Amino acid sequence: MTSKQPEFRRYLVPINTLSTPQFFTDCLVIGSGVAGLRAAIEASAAGSVTLVCKGTLEESNTWNAQGGIAAVLGSDDSFDNHVADTLATGGGLSDPDVVTQVVTEAPALIRELIEWGTDFDRVNGTIDATREGGHSRARVIHSHGDSTGRGIAEGLIKKLRAADNITVLEQFFAIDLLTGEDNECLGAIGCRANGNLQIIWAARTILATGGAGRLYRETTNPDGATADGLAMAYRAGAVLRDLEFMQFHPTTLYIAGASRALITETLRGEGAILRDRDGNAFMKDYHPEAELAPRDVVSRAILDRMLRTGSTHVYLDIRHFDKAHFQKRFPLISELCGSFDINVSKDMIPVRPSAHYMIGGVRVDRAAATSIPNLYACGEAASTGLHGANRLGSNSLLEGLVYGKLAGSAAAGDLRRRDPHLHHRSFVFEVPHSDRSRLDTEDVRNSLRALMWRNVGITREQTHLIEAQEIIRFWQRYVMDKVFETPFGWECQNMLTVALLMARAAEARAESRGVHFRKDYPKTDNDHFQKHIDLS
Ligand code: FUM
Repeated sequence: MTSKQPEFRRYLVPINTLSTPQFFTDCLVIGSGVAGLRAAIEASAAGSVTLVCKGTLEESNTWNAQGGIAAVLGSDDSFDNHVADTLATGGGLSDPDVVTQVVTEAPALIRELIEWGTDFDRVNGTIDATREGGHSRARVIHSHGDSTGRGIAEGLIKKLRAADNITVLEQFFAIDLLTGEDNECLGAIGCRANGNLQIIWAARTILATGGAGRLYRETTNPDGATADGLAMAYRAGAVLRDLEFMQFHPTTLYIAGASRALITETLRGEGAILRDRDGNAFMKDYHPEAELAPRDVVSRAILDRMLRTGSTHVYLDIRHFDKAHFQKRFPLISELCGSFDINVSKDMIPVRPSAHYMIGGVRVDRAAATSIPNLYACGEAASTGLHGANRLGSNSLLEGLVYGKLAGSAAAGDLRRRDPHLHHRSFVFEVPHSDRSRLDTEDVRNSLRALMWRNVGITREQTHLIEAQEIIRFWQRYVMDKVFETPFGWECQNMLTVALLMARAAEARAESRGVHFRKDYPKTDNDHFQKHIDLS
């Protein structure tokens, strides 16, 4: 499928190597989640690494991850079980070899995290594990109760800081990947904290830029999840895959004015019950696994219940939990509820679904290589084939770890094998001046997020998907021709670029599968759609 977009421009900013500061690095890593951190550590074995991130090292979806990381550690579980659960959830689109690869590498990588300083919670000395939807065994391990991502990231950051050949540039906004005559990746151009453009030439580049949750009005994702990596890879000519598969998390806090904070699924794994406004526990009416049904089923059930009861939300009931255990096991959520005067022993927690995880991404092979020479991708920005059409909770931190290591190791291997000598290139890219009127970029972003929520949300249909594309194209006409000078504007352009691709992919998949539900095609159609949707 081709998808040239209106006002398509290869680079978002004019480039002139004569006037732009530049430096060389062996490996450039873009992003500071679990995948980027792990990749940088691995690549640093073979040369200099520069890791750039648009916020601080601590601002990532990884840092916010609550529930845990999935791994087979107990004797009552097996790799085969974890593989089977992942494949069953993936709706026929997971790659069995990738699933086996990720699942079997988990124990060694968890041991490594422990060595590097991550404390996984233990009961009587044994790592504690719990369940999440779709996992047939308790294999979701956690750190600091419900701050697992933070526990993992802190260990990786400590290790990264100790490496003397890794340079970290925080508040660096990567604007575009630079490519050469054979479309090979040469590094990136970005904007430093002081507002100046900077070229970083790199023998190898690793994209670990995270997800796209901020394209939706309701999301668990932090401000930075604006799909920048997907947009810049697309502009550079990389193949993007399965962008229709955006996973919605069923339970995020729903209080007017509060951010849509995640209320971890592991609460349901430990007995929390979903109730509608009339107090009815409704999940058994929708799936035999009730609260532990796959996330897409729970999200749609909640929407249906909201509609039937005329309510904006449902409730998560943990009034039967032992309060002391809850405070110790879920300190983050305990504090969050307390801050809104929700007494969990008496009150139920108002929740509804939000956009949570981008399953699709930059297509990579089993060595994390993209379709662009010298460019690797890992983490949420990549489509590896692990999740297929649906993602098991807590498989993604694991995927980030495994593919981060793979990407770093592939880059390191390249650096050892080939002459990594980089030379200065002259490069000039001009952008014609736009004489169109000034824009309220914030209004465009908010309107886009509302449109995506309405038209490309949990349930979809052709007329809405076509309407979304028409509206986004119209907005693109006067946003994409501009040259912005701040991340807020570049993010807006990236969001429009990826939103259009997501709506196109969702329209193209005229069936329902995994997290993609079409009201007009409610059945899975294996004859026509047991395949990926590639956009390039
Ligand atoms: O519910 C959660 O804690 C989310 C986990 C995940 O998305 O992997």
